[in-house]
Amino acid sequence: MDLPFSESFKIKMVAPIKKSTKEERLKWIKEAKYNLFNLKSEQVFIDLLTDSGTGSMSEKQWSEMLLGDEAYAGASSYYKMKNAIKKILGFDYFLPTHQGRAAENVLFSVLVEAGDIVPGNSHFDTTKGHIEFRKAKAIDCTIDEAFDTELEYPFKGNVDIKKLEKAFEDYDNQKIKFLIITLTNNTAGGQPVSMANLKSIREFADEKGVLVVFDSARFAENAYFIKTREKGYENKTIKEIVKEMFSYADAMTMSSKKDAIVNMGGFIAMRDKKLFEKASMYNIMFEGYLTYGGMSGRDMNALAQGLDEGTEFETLETRVRQVEYLGAQLIDYGIPVQRPIGGHAVFINAGKLLRHIPREEFPAQKLAIELYKEAGVRGVEIGAILADRDPETGKNRFDGIDFLRLAIPRRTYTNNHMDVVAAAMKNIYDRRSEITAGVKIVKEAPIMRHFTVELEEL
Ligand code: F0G
Repeated sequence: MDLPFSESFKIKMVAPIKKSTKEERLKWIKEAKYNLFNLKSEQVFIDLLTDSGTGSMSEKQWSEMLLGDEAYAGASSYYKMKNAIKKILGFDYFLPTHQGRAAENVLFSVLVEAGDIVPGNSHFDTTKGHIEFRKAKAIDCTIDEAFDTELEYPFKGNVDIKKLEKAFEDYDNQKIKFLIITLTNNTAGGQPVSMANLKSIREFADEKGVLVVFDSARFAENAYFIKTREKGYENKTIKEIVKEMFSYADAMTMSSKKDAIVNMGGFIAMRDKKLFEKASMYNIMFEGYLTYGGMSGRDMNALAQGLDEGTEFETLETRVRQVEYLGAQLIDYGIPVQRPIGGHAVFINAGKLLRHIPREEFPAQKLAIELYKEAGVRGVEIGAILADRDPETGKNRFDGIDFLRLAIPRRTYTNNHMDVVAAAMKNIYDRRSEITAGVKIVKEAPIMRHFTVELEEL
């Protein structure tokens, strides 16, 4: 008999998690104003809010923590990180930042001006936030296939070059300085971008004379999908694929809390010395001196080690297969999810599951609340609440899909936990016709409202 698949790690340290009663959860979610960000973590049994900074570091990463050099300037930890970035990603210049959005803030301080247009594939909310905050506009050029959740298409994160072309026709070319490519495409469901697409994007950018920036939070998962799905890459190592991917970029922003498997950290990397020098000024202003940029030496050490481990096939296979394990159960139960299952999370099409709840009542948020009530599982709405209002019209943006995202932290939960999540979702699915109303917004911030929004159940 063939041996089944199993994880490529063993567990060395554990943390307790507590179950709660349904009564307690009903009280807590009400006190949290139906915003799951407001829950205390001890009120959550299985936390699938995000895979960002929530993973478990390895023994090697923890030992690197003890070797951290905390010098203000020129710390050896900085050089460890610099060498890892050069070796694994191929960039000569880099700036540490405290996390991904800080990298966006620094880089966009150089690259984005009021009135600019920034095309890309489903910009993440902080990316869009930093663009719109500067009175510029993000244009989503993701392929149409991404919006048909039933369709099995291997690279739903891809950019539609025709849509890019149209963005250049519709807007003044002078206003477009760079393209931002999100790897994997988080908002579309953790969906990868193919190498062929990255090549075409590079050619297109060269033709137009604009830069290509990768938002690289989950670049290693993207490389795993290229290896397992794209012809010609099956015999290449993840590290070889990663090198080729980044050869098509001029610069990158990184939230290291994802594929570098650290709890905090980020960076910007680039090829051009001039861009590095311009960004350096903002890094010193917003983040810290050039050789620490908001990170402690120990964290830079753990990050350097994490970049190496995070680009090993076994690490990625273990990770992605757990996400698939949960996804396969949900599919078996008939629950509509973005297919194929993405890299870091299962995205449930809540608009479809709760089709009788109008979009104005935010069905994905309602589903997130129901899942919490059912089993103490915390997911996150990736839908119209997250999408914010259009800054020009002030209207809710109802043009995307209302997803409930169940993001799985790296090396943290077992498949038994996934079984609990799947069973809880099945219970909700079975009684879906009884869930007849959603939520309404009582209070919201003008930008990135989903973190602090206050809601009432209808
Ligand atoms: N880009 C992408 C694609 C992201 O998914 C995130 C964060 C960021 C940038 C910003 O990085 O959090 O380090 O400042 N995503 C998390 C999530 C929060 O839950 O998907 P950050």
